[in-house]
Amino acid sequence: MSERRLRPSVPVAFKCDKVIKKSVHGLNTLINLNRIYKEDCLSFMSKLKDHKILVDVIVTSPPYNINKEYGLYKDNKEKDRYLHWMQNVAEKSYHILKEDGSFFLNVGGRPADPTFPFQVATQFRTLYELQTTIHRIKSVSIDAEDVAKNNEFHGNISIGHFKPIVSDRYLSDLHEYIFHFTKTGNLKLDKLGIGVTYQDKTNIGRWKSAKSDERDRGNVWLLSYPTIQEGRPHPAVFPIKLPERCINLHGIKPNLLVYDPFMGIGNTALACLRLGLNYLGTEIDAEFIKIAQHKMTSTLLETNLSVDSHEII
Ligand SMILES: C[S@@+](CC[C@H](N)C(=O)[O-])C[C@H]1O[C@@H](n2cnc3c(N)ncnc32)[C@H](O)[C@@H]1O
Repeated sequence: MSERRLRPSVPVAFKCDKVIKKSVHGLNTLINLNRIYKEDCLSFMSKLKDHKILVDVIVTSPPYNINKEYGLYKDNKEKDRYLHWMQNVAEKSYHILKEDGSFFLNVGGRPADPTFPFQVATQFRTLYELQTTIHRIKSVSIDAEDVAKNNEFHGNISIGHFKPIVSDRYLSDLHEYIFHFTKTGNLKLDKLGIGVTYQDKTNIGRWKSAKSDERDRGNVWLLSYPTIQEGRPHPAVFPIKLPERCINLHGIKPNLLVYDPFMGIGNTALACLRLGLNYLGTEIDAEFIKIAQHKMTSTLLETNLSVDSHEII
């Protein structure tokens, strides 16, 4: 299987022309697009609901309640309180997501609490349909004998990186979930928007579905982190490619609006910049917002775009 994207992203410089300073219809003093608001996501979603503002895609990774050192946020809620909070996130989000919208929820856990991601997903399933479960792989090791003969790799391969676990009981956890929730469970996906080419070209034409050299990528996504050169600015980020791939899978349409309730240091906003889409974000920690602002500014300057059109409030 080749990992080459079939439909490469439109170049940033072209796409960002569309990301202009814009206000949500009739609410230009209240909610501006392309902003990360320093605000609790629940209260922000209530505002969106009050003003009948609907979004197309929500993609996010909440804190996992594993006592991570975030800064302002304390990641150690009592389990029931945490799950209740997630249920509130599900409820509030349901009111602001379009009927044909997608909610991509990235959750991982701890080997000692292996059902945690499903407990979180269960809060969402009281309202949403779980349409797809995607397995987000941080690293994988493949033995030479399992690599197809026509593959260009021949030896044992290990790809990606991870934090090894110190334990006699558990294997290192190289995996998280991306739960894809929709309102109907019937949403048509742009599967080939994130498709791959066939490794073995003799497959083309073998089945009805294999008409050309492009195929469904499947629900196992290897998303490795870029190597961190300087200090770690945030303890629990996802790579930009994660929201980018989720949004592409939902399908890109004109005026698509993306929201990330737990924006962290802005990776969903950066994905939207790359895709030329409008976004909204919330984050309670001003330090993370500053980092997001810095990253956005550098990206915008690299592409000669107006920095004013992307503010952090
Ligand atoms: C797992 S991190 C998200 C990281 C993000 N995906 C990234 O790549 O930068 C969760 C974030 O949620 C923020 N957070 C916690 N409670 C929040 C709330 N009630 N509203 C908005 N953000 C919150 C935390 O400060 C933390 O940065």
